[in-house]
Amino acid sequence: MLFDTFQRPMRDLRISVTDRCNFRCTYCMPREVFGANYTFLPKSELLSFEEITRLARIFVGLGVEKIRITGGEPLLRRDLEKLIAMLVSIEGLHDLALTTNGALLVKYAKTLRENGLHRVTVSLDSLDDAIFSAMNDVEFPVARVLAGIDAALAAGFSPIKVNMVVKRGVNDDSILPMVARFRGPNTILRLIEYMDVGNSNRWHMAEVVPSAEVIATIARVIPLEPVSRTRAGEVAARYRFTDGKGEIGVITSVTQPFCGDCTRARLSSEGKLYTCLFAGNGCDLRKLLRDGASDAQIAAVVANVWRARDDRYSEKRAANPVVEPKVEMSRIGG
Ligand code: GTP
Ligand code: 5AD
Ligand code: SF4
Ligand code: SF4
Repeated sequence: MLFDTFQRPMRDLRISVTDRCNFRCTYCMPREVFGANYTFLPKSELLSFEEITRLARIFVGLGVEKIRITGGEPLLRRDLEKLIAMLVSIEGLHDLALTTNGALLVKYAKTLRENGLHRVTVSLDSLDDAIFSAMNDVEFPVARVLAGIDAALAAGFSPIKVNMVVKRGVNDDSILPMVARFRGPNTILRLIEYMDVGNSNRWHMAEVVPSAEVIATIARVIPLEPVSRTRAGEVAARYRFTDGKGEIGVITSVTQPFCGDCTRARLSSEGKLYTCLFAGNGCDLRKLLRDGASDAQIAAVVANVWRARDDRYSEKRAANPVVEPKVEMSRIGG
């Protein structure tokens, strides 16, 4: 097992498989930056499925138990289900999950399940088409995301987590309808504090709704009680409804950072290893792969990066907001 300078083990790997997305969420890929002139990575710069699987196997050998596939939008990567089948066969990997905007789930849910994917998380910010369209900025209808969630449930994924980024004055009125819609045994709503990831979203603290406020808003209508975390390093703080009908999670990255037990490594679609969501630079593993390094040599580089890790951006944010460029969310998938 590998530990960093704060004795945090490396247990999770988040793999971005594409920097492209069919949405332009204002908090992630705002159209002013990710417009018609934006250059995405050419295919040759993306890691191939073979390269991703080789790296994943090396990471599992170093202690990673859980892998999450992200993007951009991961289902835009052609033949993604083949990668799932390749990853799921890695011995020692206990959990393989996917975070998606749900747009293509009707098409792919069944194949993903058949190929061995364990879990699916779907992002959805509102049940109101006007609000959701203003946030996804491509006029994507709520009904198609709901159909995607239903397709994933029908394929056997359960429970499905639904991620909602809350922005003050934008979708805070959607909190209660979202809670009502996703309350129950098969779905778990997670309300995420709007974060200052990347350099593009013009983040401002005034637009963050603190999770404490979100919980108070919900508790006024449906009584809740906190649940202890099931797993060290879990990002969401969990609450269950006292009537026994379901649970929710809140992700308090801004108001109550959780860097202390952050066990997550991130691999960008072009093969850079980042040790924090807010990092500026990554370690180029693709170069090692393509220069012919052995598994042992790559493992040694990864181990050195992790041992030297001292990231705790969210904890330091309040005291000294970083001004140097950070990696874009769409490159490392959150
Ligand atoms: P589980 O595997 O089910 O526990 O899911 P998860 O919570 O790890 O994954 P998900 O991709 O759904 O993440 C939910 C939200 O938390 C996203 O907005 C992520 O960007 C954010 N998030 C995940 N990991 C970190 C982290 O290490 N730091 C910060 N600040 N935010 C994170
Ligand atoms: N703040 C909080 N969450 C964000 N996500 C994307 N950008 C941000 C942001 N600025 C979320 C997406 C998705 C997850 C991977 O990250 O909604 O659910
Ligand atoms: Fe695409 Fe997800 Fe970013 Fe929205 S949050 S633009 S769906 S990658
Ligand atoms: Fe981990 Fe960085 Fe997020 Fe802190 S800010 S929890 S160190 S990824």
